[in-house]
Amino acid sequence: MKVLMVCLGNICRSPLAEGILKKQVQEKGLDWQIDSAGTSGWHVGELPDARSIATAKQYGIDITDQRSRQFQQSDLDTFDLILAMDTSNYNDILRLANSEQATKVKMILNFTYPKENRSVPDPYYNDGFETVYQLLDLACGKIIEEYPNES
Ligand code: 4NP
Repeated sequence: MKVLMVCLGNICRSPLAEGILKKQVQEKGLDWQIDSAGTSGWHVGELPDARSIATAKQYGIDITDQRSRQFQQSDLDTFDLILAMDTSNYNDILRLANSEQATKVKMILNFTYPKENRSVPDPYYNDGFETVYQLLDLACGKIIEEYPNES
């Protein structure tokens, strides 16, 4: 199972989502591949935001090996599941997808709040990293529950 987490900058939300899902699959003994990317190229090559690093660290997750990269069209072939943090990420990804690829693209919070198309709030300007962590932790648990037989 190959999962890609996508937000705008790939420095706040999707790096946390990547770190959380990696930890959860490791705890379950699953061999999934998990990565993250941003729809913008604004922070390419940068470490995650210091506030994301600190929040992850509080829960025993080290995300300092991550570097921001931009989402690319080939990701739509590489990954089985492409999870958008918010509706603008979702729409930006879908613009690059053909109809078959589009079926792999989902709003991450639809795993916890089905069909509501809720967005993970962007914490870059307003803070709220703890809230983002909790939302993503619950959603990642549901993702693993939905794909129990994927190695
Ligand atoms: P992210 O947060 O999409 O969760 O990584 C943001 C990071 C940077 C910016 C906006 C959101 N920015 O405007 O640079």
